[in-house]
Amino acid sequence: MADKLIIFDTTLRDGEQSPGASMTREEKLRIAKQLERLRVDVIEAGFAASSNGDFEAVRAIADAIKDSTVCSLARANDRDIARAAEALKGARSMRIHTFMATSALHMEKKLRMTPEQVHDQIRIAVRFARKFTDNIEFSPEDASRSDPDFLCRVLEAAIAEGATTINIPDTVGYAVPELFGEQIRRLRERIPNSANAIWSVHCHNDLGMAVANSLAAVKIGGARQVECTVNGLGERAGNTSLEEVVMAVRTRRDYFDLETGIDTTQIVPASKLVSSITGFPVQPNKAVVGANAFAHASGIHQDGVLKQRDTYEIMRAEDVGWTANKIVLGKLSGRNAFKQRLHELGIQLDSEQEVNAAFQRFKDLADRKSDIFDEDIHALVSDQAVHHEPDERYQLVSMAQSSETGERPHARVTLTIDGREETSDSDGNGPVDATFKAIEARAASGAELMLDSVNAITTGTESQGEVTVRLAKAGRVVNGIGADPDIVVASAKAYLSALNRLQSKGERVNPQAEGV
Ligand code: KIV
Ligand code: ZN
Repeated sequence: MADKLIIFDTTLRDGEQSPGASMTREEKLRIAKQLERLRVDVIEAGFAASSNGDFEAVRAIADAIKDSTVCSLARANDRDIARAAEALKGARSMRIHTFMATSALHMEKKLRMTPEQVHDQIRIAVRFARKFTDNIEFSPEDASRSDPDFLCRVLEAAIAEGATTINIPDTVGYAVPELFGEQIRRLRERIPNSANAIWSVHCHNDLGMAVANSLAAVKIGGARQVECTVNGLGERAGNTSLEEVVMAVRTRRDYFDLETGIDTTQIVPASKLVSSITGFPVQPNKAVVGANAFAHASGIHQDGVLKQRDTYEIMRAEDVGWTANKIVLGKLSGRNAFKQRLHELGIQLDSEQEVNAAFQRFKDLADRKSDIFDEDIHALVSDQAVHHEPDERYQLVSMAQSSETGERPHARVTLTIDGREETSDSDGNGPVDATFKAIEARAASGAELMLDSVNAITTGTESQGEVTVRLAKAGRVVNGIGADPDIVVASAKAYLSALNRLQSKGERVNPQAEGV
C-alpha cells in the first residue's frame, strides 16, 4: 500500500497574511468547512495569540470541525502556547504548532538571542506545549538558511521534548528543489531520534519553486506532510499551492507512490470560495484551478481531445470539481432545485434564513440574466456572505450613472451609513471613477485605492462581473469584492465591501515579523 502524504492547509493562517486577505470569523468558518469537505488532514485555523478576533476564529473552527485536526500557530513562548491551547480546547483533534527562527540572521537581528538561548527556549516551549496535547509541531523558521549542525541539535531537542511533527520552512522562498530535498534527507539521516517525528515542509513561492521544492522534499527527502494553501495564497508570492501538490501526487502516482486523503472534486469549489472571500482572483492560466486550465484553444489540440481525451489531457476537469459553464438554473427554477444545486456544489448555508436570502438573490439575478451557471451561484453566495454582515456600516441602496461620448461621466449613489440614508453625486474620468468619488463624498474614508480589477465570472457579454477593490489606510490593507451583471454596480459593491472591512477592528500580528 502507498504511504500517505498528509495535507496541512494553512490558507487561514499563512494565506491570511497576504495583503488585504484578512477574514472575519464567519468567513474563516466557511472556508474551514469547505476544507473539511475537501478532507484536508490538518487545518491551521489561525494564530490564536495574535488578536482576539483570531482567537475567536480558531475557537469557532475548533468547535465546528469534526473530521480534520485543527491547529493554531504559536510563537515559542508560554503565553502564545497557552492561548493556542485555550482556543483549541473544543477540538475533536487538536495540534499546537510552535515555531522559532534558527538562522543566524534571524537569531541575531530579529530575535536578538544567542543560538544557546534559542536552543533552550525551543526545549522549554515544546515541553510546555506537551502539557496541553501530544500533537505538537515544531518549525525552525528560516530553516533553509540555517546552519545544518545547529538545526540538527535544535530538532533533536524538539523531538526529545515531544514534538511529533518537524516542519522545515523555506520562509523566504530561497530553496531550490534538489538541494532542499537533500537537506531534508540529511536532517532525517543525521538526527538520531528523527524517526519519532513526521517530517513536513512549508515552502514560499518567491522564486516560483514552492511546489517543486515541496515535491522534492517528499521524493528525495522523505517528507510525509506538505503545508500548502488553496490557490497558493500567502505572503508575498504565496505558499505551496494545495491543488498543484495534490494533483501532482495523484496524476504521477507512478513516480511518487503516495496517496492523499483529499476529495479532489472539492478543489474547484474551495478555490472559488477562497478567491471570492479574500478578493484574490485566480489567474486564468493557473494550473488546475485557472479558468483556462482545461481549455484547448489550438485546433490541433481540440481535434486531438475530441478524438481521444488523453491525447492532450492528463487530468479530467470533473475530477477536480469543474462543472464549468453548465447551464444549471433559470428564471423558472424553484427553491428545491436551487437548494439541490447548492448541495451538489458543496455549498452549505448555515440556516434556512440564509437559503431563503440566497434564493431571493438568485431570483433577482435570473430576472436580469437568462442562464445561471454554477459560477454565478458561487458568486451570489459569496456576495451574500460579504454584503450582509449584520454589523455592516455602509450599504448600497441604489445608484445611477450616465456616460456619453464627449461628456464627462456622472454618478449618483444612495447609501446607508450606520442606517442613515445619504445621497451624493460626482463626476469622474469614467463611470467607475465617478461612482467611487460619489461614495467617498459621503464616506470620507480617506483610504487610498490600491487596486481595482474586474473579472468576468463566466463567458459572454451576459456574464456577471466580479470586481476586487483594495484599499489602504494607516498601514492596513483590505480587499473588497462585489459581483453583478452591471460592472459599475459590482464596483460599487466591492468598494463598499472594502470600506466595511476597513471599519472592522481585527488587527492581526504577522508572526514572522515578531520576536518571541
Ligand atoms: O514561513 C514560515 O516560516 C512560517 C512558519 C511560521 C512555519 O510560516
Ligand atoms: Zn510561511
